[in-house]
Amino acid sequence: MNLSKLASVGVIALAGMAYACGGGSDTKSEETTTTTETAAPKKDMSFDEMHKDNPDYVDGLALVKESDCPSCHMVERKIVGPAYKDVAEKYESTDENIETLAKRVVEGNNGVWGQVPMPAHPGLSEDDAKKMIKYILLLKK
Ligand code: HEC
Repeated sequence: MNLSKLASVGVIALAGMAYACGGGSDTKSEETTTTTETAAPKKDMSFDEMHKDNPDYVDGLALVKESDCPSCHMVERKIVGPAYKDVAEKYESTDENIETLAKRVVEGNNGVWGQVPMPAHPGLSEDDAKKMIKYILLLKK
């Protein structure tokens, strides 16, 4: 798409309108088509793209990456622990769920997803754990 051409068409149309009223309808329909073309459907976007401006996502992801979580968890697929997207599907992102899940990460837990326990993370603050959970619970479409 030639943007500079589009822009100059707009300028000419505007200039035309200043002389003779009512000449702007062509420009309008052109604008509408352009907007529809560029709006990408949500399901085709990666989570990174969807939430790139959301500090909960960005901060939580950074903390998860620094910690040992990736050795047992992946976003799309179960390894030792459940896939984050399955966790996101199971729990609404409410304050109560965030608090419960953060506690389970810090203290360790078992019996929700199977027989394998998640070890405790005593070095992790509950605040950081909450940020990680907020990020995990955003991983659904
Ligand atoms: C040694 C492997 C291991 C590590 C490391 C690990 N997890 Fe887990 N995680 C598990 C297992 C196994 C489960 C399922 C436990 C269960 O069934 O209750 C689980 C469950 C979870 C759940 C769901 C809890 C629930 O009650 O539904 C969350 C959220 C979670 N982990 C987040 C994390 C985060 C965040 C980290 C990093 C700080 C982390 N895990 C590190 C193995 C691990």
